[in-house]
Amino acid sequence: MKGLLLSGGRGTRLRPLTHTSAKQLVPVANKPVLFYGIEALRGAGLTDIGIIVGDTHEEIEAACGDGSRFDVKLTYIRQAEPLGLAHAVLTAREFLDNDEFVMYLGDNLIINGIKELVDQFREERPNSMVLLARVPNPEQFGVAELEDGKVVNLVEKPAEPKSDLALVGVYMFDKNILQAADSIKPSPRGELEITDAIQWLVDNDFRVNPHIVSGWWKDTGKLEDMLEANRMILATLEAKTHGSIDEGTRLEDRVVIEEGAVITNSTIRGPAIIGRNTRIEDSYVGPFTSIYHDCHVRSSEVEHSIILEESRILDVGRRIEDSLIGKNVTISRTQIRPKALRFMLGDNSAVGIT
Ligand code: TTP
Repeated sequence: MKGLLLSGGRGTRLRPLTHTSAKQLVPVANKPVLFYGIEALRGAGLTDIGIIVGDTHEEIEAACGDGSRFDVKLTYIRQAEPLGLAHAVLTAREFLDNDEFVMYLGDNLIINGIKELVDQFREERPNSMVLLARVPNPEQFGVAELEDGKVVNLVEKPAEPKSDLALVGVYMFDKNILQAADSIKPSPRGELEITDAIQWLVDNDFRVNPHIVSGWWKDTGKLEDMLEANRMILATLEAKTHGSIDEGTRLEDRVVIEEGAVITNSTIRGPAIIGRNTRIEDSYVGPFTSIYHDCHVRSSEVEHSIILEESRILDVGRRIEDSLIGKNVTISRTQIRPKALRFMLGDNSAVGIT
């Protein structure tokens, strides 16, 4: 059995970050989202993994390499254009070589992994198995209807959902999904939809079984979800200090300080993580904050935010919260004083604040 990890796409919901970078490499608790996916596949015993990549292929290849650091073998498969999840499957035809496979969306996070799903698929041997989660807002998802323990209908974002079971970004297939993807037409948004391909399987008497997810999952495709995923993962970390902390600094609750980080005269209230070689001076870092490597925070307050590498938050004085700040961003004090600070800034931005 193989793994197929989808890491192409447009990422429009995370612009401007995705103008310059792959959304799958945005770190959650200082680890790129995509790495959690590779680890989930590995955790289910899958070591032969294909990664669908698009325009951001160089960055993804540089981050993941040949897979040896994850103890897996990675094969990169270039999708010329993001023409849909079923199109991604067709693009991977040669790699898949008629094997059974798990398809995993590279911007999804599933706590507790996918081993149970893979084991159930191996036991029940259906043609496809879809991972489902109960959600309060099914109209925003692909929704499955079940009958006698199998999937009988799938609808993409239904106005009047017939169940609260949303499709989570993990699917299992045998080779018949290729025939299904070959047989469907693009949807009104111009994509070959995986829901249409699975519906084709149902309509042609192939068996599609459900697996209702027991743990928590998140599609990190937009800011709020990224922050929520960060909260959930930070809440599972154990306190660790590898950097240096002076006498004027207080670490409260679970705080991870990575190697080479230097914290002076500051309060860090966990759960929070401070990345490699990052400097924090005369500042407050509040719960649910991840600051990546080589950043500098001085005389500022940051809470419930994700800050990417090499960014600087200098003398802001007011609290920054609910924010996702790209790489190499500078936020420093200027003359005008806004009352609240909420950012979604692209890479290489510079913002002045007073
Ligand atoms: P989506 O989040 O559904 O699509 P997107 O990445 O284009 O984002 P947005 O809706 O914000 O524009 O994609 C889910 C995952 O699948 C994501 O990791 C990107 C990947 N993907 C591909 O690899 N190829 C594709 O053709 C598509 C549509 C998505």
